Amino acid sequence: MARLAAALPPGAVLTSPADRAAFETDWRRLHAHPALCVVQPGSTADVAAAVRICAEAAVGVVPQGGNTGLVAGAVPAEGAPQVVLTLRRMAAVRALDTVGDSVTVEAGATLQSVQELAAGAGRLFPLSLAAEGTAQIGGLVATNAGGLQVLAYGSMRALVLGLEVVLPDGSIWEGLRPLRKDNTGFDLKQLFIGAEGLLGIVTAACLRLFPAVTQRVTALAGVPTVESALRLFQAARDRAGTALTMCEFVSGEAMRLVARRVPGARPPFDAPAYVLLELSSPAADHPLRHAAETVLEEALAGGLALDAVVAQSERERLQLLRLREEISDAELADGGAVKHDIAVPIALIPETVAAVEALVRRRFPGYRLNVFGHLGDGNLHVNVRPPEGCSVAAIGPLYQDITCAVEDLAMARGGSFSAEHGIGQMRIASLGRYKSAVDLALMSALKRALDPHNILNPGKLLPAGQGRDARG
Ligand code: MLT
Ligand code: ZN
Repeated sequence: MARLAAALPPGAVLTSPADRAAFETDWRRLHAHPALCVVQPGSTADVAAAVRICAEAAVGVVPQGGNTGLVAGAVPAEGAPQVVLTLRRMAAVRALDTVGDSVTVEAGATLQSVQELAAGAGRLFPLSLAAEGTAQIGGLVATNAGGLQVLAYGSMRALVLGLEVVLPDGSIWEGLRPLRKDNTGFDLKQLFIGAEGLLGIVTAACLRLFPAVTQRVTALAGVPTVESALRLFQAARDRAGTALTMCEFVSGEAMRLVARRVPGARPPFDAPAYVLLELSSPAADHPLRHAAETVLEEALAGGLALDAVVAQSERERLQLLRLREEISDAELADGGAVKHDIAVPIALIPETVAAVEALVRRRFPGYRLNVFGHLGDGNLHVNVRPPEGCSVAAIGPLYQDITCAVEDLAMARGGSFSAEHGIGQMRIASLGRYKSAVDLALMSALKRALDPHNILNPGKLLPAGQGRDARG
């Protein structure tokens, strides 16, 4: 710690338990292990120096962005001595190129600041998620974040043009280039996207920008069944094509939770389930409103939808989005949940939801389902809430039983056990359960090749014994 304090700017090393606490506890408040200290580098050179010092002392480094992740990937794990390295002091904009449509920012810039920067330049940065005011670019890259507009623009992996990364030995990989094409061997930046800080610490990113959206139509439809939600998605996609930029599913239970827990949040009508649709386009003459209204009229006439509203102003649009975006906060305020992040082939969504409902009724009576998510991506958050008055932190081994049962259902359908949240600490057992021996061997080989002493983010992503040496 003395060496860190000497190498970094004044005040960059936090050691008191009070100063460390927020950096040691994950967003879901399920994991809290002490760090030796928290370091706050102000530059890439500082990050490199800190990593070098930690590597020499065989101390793990836990990179942290906004600490809004849902799988405890950015807080210390139990075990080896670790420091948390927060990127929050590195939030500068390094370049904005409106000809090449890219922006280069440091890792600690929040997603919202990048969205606003793009909008100010007449462009769009499309990544969008509930935590965007706090979530930081470095963490979003490291976790390959998804969110509400993946349907149209892809997840973070599709939005990164270049990266600057500090490697586990403290050297710096300079891959911060805005090129659209560069077919010169391994695409190294992809190694670090979604690697959750195990292979390197992202210190800056060059991101793709898109033409600004000039019109948007946002609608909430009430639907009788999950099957009708899926058919409404298909109808909207068939009519709007790539102009369908958001299609989210909210179960009746999820909506009731938001209405109960979030002051001022009220669905415009009651329904068994809801679909939130957004059509948007950079072209001012695109007949978006007509497309949206036609889809909804046909859905209402055919019984696919029971009711629908179209936002008439930006204020109304934000109110509708809020009903979807507040679900996780409402759930946490209501005792939390055994959260899941499954993906299945889209056509299997109705049958998967039915199977999950039957499973919970049969094996976990009294538990309450909270299903919502990214319908258009085949990605559902199938969250299982303990009985009224019982906190999720208190359910013991049942937590893993529920997770195994839900994830088994997804995997049996050719799906994924973690569609967008990553692995962190909370999905390591699932990774060990479902990945093949070849998958695990490849991942371990990469980790060992880049970080043979397991300095970066120890205790995350890889099952114990994979890619860890004696120090970790
Ligand atoms: C969301 O889509 O709101 C988050 O990814 C989900 C969650 O909290 O499970
Ligand atoms: Zn999500």
